[in-house]
Amino acid sequence: MCGIVGYVGQREVVPLLLDGLGKLEYRGYDSAGVVVRHGHELTTAKAEGKLERLRAKLERAPLPTGGYGLGHTRWATHGAPSERNAHPVVDSKGRVALIHNGIIENFLALKHRLLDAGWTFATDTDTEVVSNLVSSHLDETSSLTEAVRRTIAELEGMYAIAALSTQGEEQEIVAARHGPPLLLGYGEGETFLASDAAALLAYTRDVTFLENGDLARLTTAGATVWDAQGEEIERPQHRINWDPVQIEKGGYKHFMLKEIHEQAQALQDTFSGRVDFERRAINLDSLGPLADPDALAGIERIHLLACGTSWHSALIGKFFIEQLARIPVEVDYGSEYRYRDPIVDSRVLAIGISQSGETADTLSAMGAARERGGRLAAISNVVGSQATRIAEGVVYTNAGPEIGVASTKAFTTQLEALYLLSLFLRQSRGKPIDADLLDPLAHLPQAIVETLEREDQITELTRKYFRSENFLYLGRGLDYPIALEGALKLKEISYIHAEGYPAGEMKHGPIALIDEEMPVVAIVTGAQEVADKVTSNIHEVKARDGIVIAVTDRDPSSLENLADEIITVPRISPFLQPIVDVVPLQLLAYQVGVKRGCDVDQPRNLAKSVTVE
Ligand code: F6R
Repeated sequence: MCGIVGYVGQREVVPLLLDGLGKLEYRGYDSAGVVVRHGHELTTAKAEGKLERLRAKLERAPLPTGGYGLGHTRWATHGAPSERNAHPVVDSKGRVALIHNGIIENFLALKHRLLDAGWTFATDTDTEVVSNLVSSHLDETSSLTEAVRRTIAELEGMYAIAALSTQGEEQEIVAARHGPPLLLGYGEGETFLASDAAALLAYTRDVTFLENGDLARLTTAGATVWDAQGEEIERPQHRINWDPVQIEKGGYKHFMLKEIHEQAQALQDTFSGRVDFERRAINLDSLGPLADPDALAGIERIHLLACGTSWHSALIGKFFIEQLARIPVEVDYGSEYRYRDPIVDSRVLAIGISQSGETADTLSAMGAARERGGRLAAISNVVGSQATRIAEGVVYTNAGPEIGVASTKAFTTQLEALYLLSLFLRQSRGKPIDADLLDPLAHLPQAIVETLEREDQITELTRKYFRSENFLYLGRGLDYPIALEGALKLKEISYIHAEGYPAGEMKHGPIALIDEEMPVVAIVTGAQEVADKVTSNIHEVKARDGIVIAVTDRDPSSLENLADEIITVPRISPFLQPIVDVVPLQLLAYQVGVKRGCDVDQPRNLAKSVTVE
């Protein structure tokens, strides 16, 4: 997960940048770098691996003192993790240094245009397209702010960028946000920039959070901010009085809410470095011996083993693997697997899915598969956890630490990891990975950001329904496990009785529960025929005076006289849609739990890691 730090002022800049980057280390990264401007010269230092290596390098060959600059920790997206691809990235005329978090979706088209115009590229990053683009605009205007403004007008995707140039006499950094967070910090004759307040708290507690679409110019006198319409705007200044726990919560009221909001970044970090969008290939080296095509060729069946929320991701994983790789899949609860004496031999690949990697039931199921001669893999969020130690290979979900007991970002990244695994299996069987399977991954973080914009609407409708004692969740196809997950989230966070059902099953029993008291959350997304059927199920609920809260990716007018509440979500792709659809359900569970005064981060009777059978 990339980190950004920037500084204009009179302090010694390199130690400050390194210290700020150190505070962001917990986010995980694979290379780091700094750039400092002295006079009209830009000097960079970069290193692959941990910050220690950059520090050691700077001790051996210090940058000249004085000046101002930018620092960055990179988590590879486009281009391998290497010193060459580390940020800051300087344009081919050597006058703009730029750092970037996020993904530029149209980087290929922009790169071809720049190549045709004579710009050259020394890295494999999408970031270099942006530094060259800013520099190209400096041929038209002497203002760095204007050059960055013209650049962002051409960018598609999700990004936070910061740039400095060799031009002008004044200390100046220009930054822009469209997705990943950025904030400004203020001191006496100095201004700071960071992707996370933790990087700045040693220097200032007076900060301004930039909004999506904002462009900011930092000088030693302060900062000027323009909104997406280009209007100069005063964003509120906050004084951060966080205690250490609040600092960890990043200003959110609860870890759960913070983690719901971290999903765009977590999803990006999970596919980063594993997807080659140009060659349409998936790299899952961490599968170790299981990454070998010969080993995979011998796999005829897959068993997915998991508990709770992770079991819901296994249900969707079955769909992915069977559809994309055409390998039959069985899904089992960890706690049930060994009691059915499963049929396992070396042609079975058993995959334990566990956020913590320590869930006793999942571990015992993995053990049962191995004892019977099966091959063994894990999908986990915790490096070095037991599940990862007993497995031959692992696909890590790079979600970062999940503190809230209710799983949110670990779930969505599990779904993405399963999708990557399914594509990898497809590739190993010699089937092509078409652009319509791969490209939506790059759009996913932005789709999550747009879905999170529904938060106020969900807070509003929570007021009407938080006193209900029962909820029903309905979905079909890939949204059936999402209905199960929505119901589980609500019951664990708010202690409300909630059930998830395949929408078509409602008429076989649960329909008896429907009355004017019970909200029914219906997920109406995916293929037209599936959505049409769920719409028919909504008619059945309304015919019995039920309350319908619809989550849909289609034109809301199609549900206007039918559903009581309509939450729209962006449409992404049939396979990735459930990852988007679950986000409003997470927010609903969270808001209802808070409104009922529940301890949402540590619900009663639950533990984050269930190490007993
Ligand atoms: C629900 C939840 C639990 C876990 C389950 C398995 O929000 O967190 O249902 O999913 O206990 O945990 P892991 O994935 O750590 O094996």
